[in-house]
Amino acid sequence: MEKFVVETSPNLEGSLRVSGAKNSVLIIMAASLLAEGECVIEDVPDLLDVHVMIDLLRSLGSEVNYDAQKEQLRTRVMDATITDASYELTNRMRASIVVMGPLLARRKRANVALPGGCPIGARPIDLHLKGFRRLGVNVEIGHGSVEGVFEDHMIGNNIYLDFPSVGATENILMAATLAKGTTTIENAAQEPEITDLASFLTKMGAKISGAGTSTIRITGVERLVGVRHQVIPDRIEAGTYMIAAAITKSKIFIDNVVPTHLRPLISKLEEAGVIVTPQANGLVVDALEGYTGVDITTLPYPGFPTDLQAQFMVMLTVCEGLHTVRETIFENRFMYVNELMRMGAKIRIDGSSAMVKGVSHLEGAQVRSTDLRAGSALILAGLVATGTTEISEIYHIDRGFVSIEKKLQGIGANIRRVSI
Ligand code: EPZ
Repeated sequence: MEKFVVETSPNLEGSLRVSGAKNSVLIIMAASLLAEGECVIEDVPDLLDVHVMIDLLRSLGSEVNYDAQKEQLRTRVMDATITDASYELTNRMRASIVVMGPLLARRKRANVALPGGCPIGARPIDLHLKGFRRLGVNVEIGHGSVEGVFEDHMIGNNIYLDFPSVGATENILMAATLAKGTTTIENAAQEPEITDLASFLTKMGAKISGAGTSTIRITGVERLVGVRHQVIPDRIEAGTYMIAAAITKSKIFIDNVVPTHLRPLISKLEEAGVIVTPQANGLVVDALEGYTGVDITTLPYPGFPTDLQAQFMVMLTVCEGLHTVRETIFENRFMYVNELMRMGAKIRIDGSSAMVKGVSHLEGAQVRSTDLRAGSALILAGLVATGTTEISEIYHIDRGFVSIEKKLQGIGANIRRVSI
């Protein structure tokens, strides 16, 4: 086991580079199951979740080679007859459910063990299954897994998503690429990761229009071929470091950022008085003059991302005034608040809203990472708390942030990884 030990770290400076997006690369790796021939994926971050997906692809008959130095992953389907994804693997990462769409499309059957519980919410998959049924798949849930099967072909259809679910949009989009006829996904998720997936599938030969909008149209084709693709930068990792600059009242350059993917956060930071200046391939965040508090509500893209909710909350704990954080995406994404309150934060939870009363400073304490993004928020808290903060259960953080302590050390933060 390991922990992070964080000391007060005012005045960060310098630059750091953002890695490829976790929530894009996992889906693109799943989409490689659709391809005949080799896929070469660039900017693949060396994350725990990437290694889980590598194990899953191998268990499904793919040959996978990952070069962590080059951040390049090469994968080729060698056996397209395997249709069962085991509980041992799907339980290690909820996103495993997105192999179901590609397996159905290419192998006409998929049997995926249902993942276990998750700290931030129930994470149902009803919208994924509604989409598959609308495409003519016979879907059954039983004995802890979900099985989809059909004869001949999936048939394109109109699908309306009750909620713009990212995973459901991705799963249905991938399934529809090889269906007979045209599929329309209405109320689709519009996250940049959807657009990146559609770009990969289009290169493979899929016929897709409207990705990145609320209506996506797919015309089925006969086959898809392996291609090379570079994953988009991780907007959540970038946003986390932007907030690190704000909370420490620093000025840093963040490299490998697509500013338009971060409009919701940039807008809120500017409202708070932070200066954000897009550059050639990144952006400068300047909070030397400090910042004031603002309210946020998480929403589907292009609203404020739920994956930056915890990090932004930390910003509000140490600025004057009373501010509100509303979480509308997940039903249990305030668990980390108890850890922040142990550091002296003044927060009151009322259902899906948190009222934050700014305090003069946080106090270092021993805290634990309750989930991936909350863990990164506790690091941010440690950067501004007086004294030492020790964060345990940091494997959560390693799932989604490449060498977070090295990147922060590179801009002057006093953080180290310690074995316990
Ligand atoms: C993706 O999860 C991301 N994960 C999440 O990032 C992110 O927080 C989330 O999208 C929202 O942006 C990956 O891309 C691997 P959803 P996903 O389906 O696809 C409800 C991180 O930290 N819902 O958009 O699971 C669901 O309960 C992770 O990187 C249904 O009701 O998100 C939730 O309340 C955390 N039925 C809401 O929709 C369904 O069939 C959003 O879920 C599916 C979802």
